[in-house]
Amino acid sequence: MSAKIISGNEIAKQIREELKADVENLQKKHNIQPGLVTILVGGNPASVSYVTAKQKTSKDLGFYSIQNDQQADIAESDLLKLISTYNKDPKIHGILVQLPLPKHINENKVLYAIDPDKDVDGFHPVNVGRLMIGEARFYPCTPYGIQQLLIRSGTKIEGAEVVVVGRSNIVGKPIAMMLVQKKDGANATVTICHTKTKDMKTHTLRGDILIVAAGAPKSVTADMVKPGAVVIDVGVNRVGMTPEGKAILQGDVDFEEVKDTASAITPVPGGVGPMTITMLMLNTVRAAKMAAGIG
Ligand code: GUN
Repeated sequence: MSAKIISGNEIAKQIREELKADVENLQKKHNIQPGLVTILVGGNPASVSYVTAKQKTSKDLGFYSIQNDQQADIAESDLLKLISTYNKDPKIHGILVQLPLPKHINENKVLYAIDPDKDVDGFHPVNVGRLMIGEARFYPCTPYGIQQLLIRSGTKIEGAEVVVVGRSNIVGKPIAMMLVQKKDGANATVTICHTKTKDMKTHTLRGDILIVAAGAPKSVTADMVKPGAVVIDVGVNRVGMTPEGKAILQGDVDFEEVKDTASAITPVPGGVGPMTITMLMLNTVRAAKMAAGIG
């Protein structure tokens, strides 16, 4: 039997419609327009396409939206000054610095310079710590999107065995921390696997929910998946180019194989990707409300 496809495109659209109403309401009732700045350093093609999509979505939602492009050789101190300017700008509620940054810039130093109240990526240690103790202000966007995909597709999370493949600070560790919380949409038993895990398959086969953020194409095959599992594929690997010059994307899961074992699965593209952008928008609206002392 073929798995149900969990469409990130559809669920993201639903959330964006809810957000659009929220943004209109904020404008009408409180004269507040959520403001987002995206800072892009250099011209990494994947980063350019992510930032362009973030900008487009924020404009579609009616945000005050600024794209700040910087040369790849910008000095770290100048980037820090730029962030300081946006930290003080009352029209800007969310600051996003697209990663990765060029090697001469200390990524952590830059992320830690963002005001935690404007950290709509949820990467600042204050926000990471808050998430850990169940007092989150901003959930990181990709894990937040994954949790919404699970909730809105009707997947039972409470009591489920969740296996996460990958331990990055952006996806693996935060999604594990979110799903283990004593909260609605969580209360799972969570295992994190990584490159040094012995016999990965013994773990992945236990997962009622398998979340794969390994960063390697087709690294999860059907023999590694529990029959009936819900599989979330976070991987976006550029494996080639079409003759028209469009990137060919491949997930971390062997979709064609695994769709016959899983009960539900996210596609690549159209799964987690659109959710990440949408949750960034939701975080920005939240930041705008927080700044105004609303909600
Ligand atoms: N690069 C890849 N994913 C992300 C993300 O979620 N936020 C930022 N700022 N950069 C990224």
